[in-house]
Amino acid sequence: MSTDTGGAARAAQGTALAIEDLTVGYGGSPVIGDLTLTIPDGAIIALLGANGAGKTTLLRTLSGLVTPRRGRVLLDGEEIHAVRVEDRVRLGLAQVPEGRSVVAELTVAENLQLGALWRHRDRARRREAVDEMYDMFEPLARRRTSFGHQLSGGERQMLALARALISRPRVLLLDEPSLGLAPRVVAQLMTVLRETAERTGLTILLAEQNVTSALSIADRGVVLSLGEIVADLPAADLAADPALRHAYLGF
Ligand SMILES: Nc1ncnc2c1ncn2[C@@H]1O[C@H](COP(=O)(O)OP(=O)(O)OP(=O)(O)O)[C@@H](O)[C@H]1O
Ligand SMILES: [Mg+2]
Repeated sequence: MSTDTGGAARAAQGTALAIEDLTVGYGGSPVIGDLTLTIPDGAIIALLGANGAGKTTLLRTLSGLVTPRRGRVLLDGEEIHAVRVEDRVRLGLAQVPEGRSVVAELTVAENLQLGALWRHRDRARRREAVDEMYDMFEPLARRRTSFGHQLSGGERQMLALARALISRPRVLLLDEPSLGLAPRVVAQLMTVLRETAERTGLTILLAEQNVTSALSIADRGVVLSLGEIVADLPAADLAADPALRHAYLGF
């Protein structure tokens, strides 16, 4: 057996991320209330809901940027809700925040090397990891010496995603990666996510306003409303059934 377990190797049929009775607020009344959600290994979950439903708050709580008032978060059965953000990354939890943050003053290659620092201390291994990302995201390979600020929106989103993937996370949290991108680029992005999940067993929690795109690659659709889960359904059902769509997604 290989001893390099990477982010991909995992017990079959296990739970990647467990959220238990999670309550989160910013001072006033809770924005997330008693939320419980189990995400199996290798699943892609579309996190849906109107503006202000609590999607970003949930992702930021999972990644450690927001502290919950109550409840637990477990990654592979290990409590992580009190663990520091950077330690959660080391444990295999990566977030691509809203707004596709890349370092504008660094080149594509430098941005990726920065991401690889989480995983490899060895320079040659880092270079290998960067090359792996170039294989996966061809447009980035062509732009490797371009600075972050010179990239298009789609290229920036790809770079943000590649920088998260280079740490070989077990669980990837994505906040509206399709925002502001052309439909063709969104489709490319979704395909990369699906293929990566299938190839590596990566688990993905994908918050999206672009419901159709998210459901096209997701296994389940979880709909939030005012910080509560109002629906948790197979993505195909939610996408195809007009009554369900109308009831939970408003279209
Ligand atoms: N930093 C903050 N301080 C206070 N309230 C906040 C903060 N961030 C979010 N909120 C409030 O929490 C609620 C949930 O917001 P959140 O950003 O999590 O929703 P969302 O589902 O991501 O919305 P969107 O689709 O617009 O991104 C909203 O009522 C919002 O006003
Ligand atoms: Mg949001």
